[in-house]
Amino acid sequence: MSRAIVLAAGKGTRMKSAQPKVLHELCGRPMIWHVLEALRSAGVTEIVVVASPELEPALAAFGVRMVVQEPQRGTGHAVQVALAALEPHEGTVVIAYGDMPLVDHTIFEDVAAAIDFDAGTALGMVTAKMPLPSSFGRVVRDRGSVRRIVELRDCTAAEREIDEMNAGIYAFDERALRSVIGKLTDANAQGELYLTDTIALLVDASYRVVPVAAQDYRLVLGVNDRAELAAARAVLNARLCEAHMLDGVTIVDPATTYLEPGLEIGADTVIAPNTAIGGRTTIGAGVRIGPNTRIRDARIGDRCRITDSIVLNSALAEDVTIGPFAHLRDGNVIGATTHIGNFVELKKTTTSPGVKASHLAYLGDATIGENTNIGAGTITCNYDGERKNETTIGRDAFIGSNSSLVAPIRIGDGAATGAGTVVIRDVPDGDRVVGNPARSIEKKGATPA
Ligand code: UD1
Ligand code: CA
Repeated sequence: MSRAIVLAAGKGTRMKSAQPKVLHELCGRPMIWHVLEALRSAGVTEIVVVASPELEPALAAFGVRMVVQEPQRGTGHAVQVALAALEPHEGTVVIAYGDMPLVDHTIFEDVAAAIDFDAGTALGMVTAKMPLPSSFGRVVRDRGSVRRIVELRDCTAAEREIDEMNAGIYAFDERALRSVIGKLTDANAQGELYLTDTIALLVDASYRVVPVAAQDYRLVLGVNDRAELAAARAVLNARLCEAHMLDGVTIVDPATTYLEPGLEIGADTVIAPNTAIGGRTTIGAGVRIGPNTRIRDARIGDRCRITDSIVLNSALAEDVTIGPFAHLRDGNVIGATTHIGNFVELKKTTTSPGVKASHLAYLGDATIGENTNIGAGTITCNYDGERKNETTIGRDAFIGSNSSLVAPIRIGDGAATGAGTVVIRDVPDGDRVVGNPARSIEKKGATPA
């Protein structure tokens, strides 16, 4: 199985969106990403996406080949356009829709395995029993064999009652597909060229069509509107949670734990409710996260505790405690056993082991030495209106409550600042500064810091 066509050019009118349907996200990735990922893990090496012109720029980032379909005259027309752009090859071509993000690689492997060139099998197609009502195309059988697919809008009353659906995942013998694809007509309720009409055409031409039953209809749910998007997200999220739980992670409430594909989470980590973890994130073992926590693009060491907080693009060593109500917003490197407490915001800050900033502080562009204590209300005044300036604080220092550290500045090892001090000059090792130095007027005329 080496070649696949993914149809994604449709207008997605039912989404009522300015954005192309297949770019709507679930679990942190565009809908179509999930389909492409499943195809790649099934071993497909050549993927062609049929795209609308609006979709083209966004898809460039996915590293797949695109063929533009304009105007969009139906799924059969989309395949005509794709085949015209592809060098004919002898073998199987898998066709899938870009709006079915719940598929996994096994479904593509199973449908491709149904093709048997010697037995004259031209098509393996996934079917699924589904509760009615359903908007899926119905599988019409004749003496047990698949005869044709009828779209809901073209169904007779009796056909509407059929509960075997066309999932929209096919493996065609490419040669047989090419022999019938030109014969589609738009004589149907939507005036479109339906890919599904190739089934009757292949049967007419005495090819074998093999239905492959989906193990679970939830694998093939399509997303056509935002209610279906939410439903699909819930299914996908439950699946991601389950995989981590089976790997030894406790998730107290999967329904309010929001995960993305590709996360690494160590054993005996506990995730409390209302927590979202995404991006390129790695979490160690024995970590406690949540409730009410958001983590993205982070590395979290073993045994950290993060409650009611936001951690973005940051690396935490082991045994760090964060929160409640802390905000690590970008580029922080946090040393082991550091404690970042209530209402503390960190940006591009590096702490050595044992640092404590327990309450109400802003630490930006700062480097803080081992075992230093940052008092409540400490602010690194890192921005002078033009530039971000750095604050360096040595080890075993004591920054008194409400200190304003006017950067660039260095506070030495073992140095201390008194409560309420506006520190405008470097403090040598072991020294202490107190009060609000009158000399701050030296800054007169300069940009206020
Ligand atoms: C389609 C199937 C239906 C099946 C269902 C499964 C057809 C005619 N019907 O119906 O039998 O049960 O999927 O989910 O195939 N697209 C294009 N170009 C177009 C039109 C559509 O690329 O001109 C793309 C869309 O972006 C979408 C996919 O094809 O990703 C399916 O189109 P959609 O309109 O959603 O088809 P359904 O009505 O869901
Ligand atoms: Ca659809």
